[in-house]
Amino acid sequence: MDSVKEEVLILAVETSCDETAAAVVRNGRDVLSNVIYSQIDLHTLYGGVVPEIASRKHIEKICPVIRKALSDAGTALSDITAVAVTYGPGLVGALLVGVSAAKAIAFAAEKPLVGVHHIEGHICANYIENKELEPPFLCLVVSGGHSHLVMVKDYGVYEILGRTRDDAAGEAFDKVARAIGLGYPGGPKIDRVSRSGNPDAVHFPRAKVDDNVYDFSFSGLKSAVLNYLNGCQMKGVEIDPADVAASFQKSVVDVLVEHSMRAAAQYGAKKFAIAGGVASNSHLREALEAACAERGIAFYRPSPLLCTDNAAMIGAAGYYEYRKGTRHGWDLNAVPGLKLGER
Ligand code: KG4
Ligand code: ZN
Repeated sequence: MDSVKEEVLILAVETSCDETAAAVVRNGRDVLSNVIYSQIDLHTLYGGVVPEIASRKHIEKICPVIRKALSDAGTALSDITAVAVTYGPGLVGALLVGVSAAKAIAFAAEKPLVGVHHIEGHICANYIENKELEPPFLCLVVSGGHSHLVMVKDYGVYEILGRTRDDAAGEAFDKVARAIGLGYPGGPKIDRVSRSGNPDAVHFPRAKVDDNVYDFSFSGLKSAVLNYLNGCQMKGVEIDPADVAASFQKSVVDVLVEHSMRAAAQYGAKKFAIAGGVASNSHLREALEAACAERGIAFYRPSPLLCTDNAAMIGAAGYYEYRKGTRHGWDLNAVPGLKLGER
């Protein structure tokens, strides 16, 4: 990594799903602005993200959001060192809006362009509020599209220890919430109603994956909840949504904590971080904090606003990629299935 003495200001852009976001971040850790236009209200009408609607809304919002990020930061485009943008994974039409805008701005302002992996962004959200956090650390990344246990060996150097075999954790939250009538987005709703439910009311399975103890599987759990709901309906038994939500949530959290702590022990992790939308789940945060404290492992988590999609995290990741020398050309394209560590 080059030694950098000067101030590095990254203008970051994120449009991988249903948030149009831009931020200005100094030296990877200080957020000068963080603008998020959430499309949630628009997609709630349809019970989930509609890709075509997301792309169209990004087109409408991308320029005002970027302009506001620069003005909130009190920065002119000419002061920016580089433009960072999420180029995958995500919805292709949504990603393309951010990638095209970032390329146009970088080209016009004659700034370097740095493509960022969305999951790397989620992981780097931890650097923003924990100035002392440095690799190596173990990170559980749980979002709407991903569930990964990642060893962060160095800045930008990742080893994936485990991943989901089917549904991502957030996807399971969203599907179960829909089934029990809570609506979209499911995660925050299940989190909220679970507070008044009994987590031991129904015992749902804790799925194990045979050939990799760190891999996850959530589709069996989702089916178990749906079967339970069907069974109740057939028997004419009224369900308590709070009890079902709390029992489902406990099953997810138990599996995430167990896998995480097994990996932490096996790899001798001294530091453990969480990232992604599901990392804002209050029960998961408490359970992991307690599990880490019991084992003398330092625990890190971003504030909820930095767990769900935002561009500040892309600015943090973009800074470390910039310092490593990562530069992308004007042919940078959206890569919907981009793998962590791939270029
Ligand atoms: O990271 P994110 O904003 O987008 C992706 O990269 O996928 O994550 C969104 C996911 C959704 O599935 C949402 O239901 C879930 O994160 N989520 C939560 C909570 N807040 C958001 N899941 C559980 N508890 C929450 N409090
Ligand atoms: Zn995300």
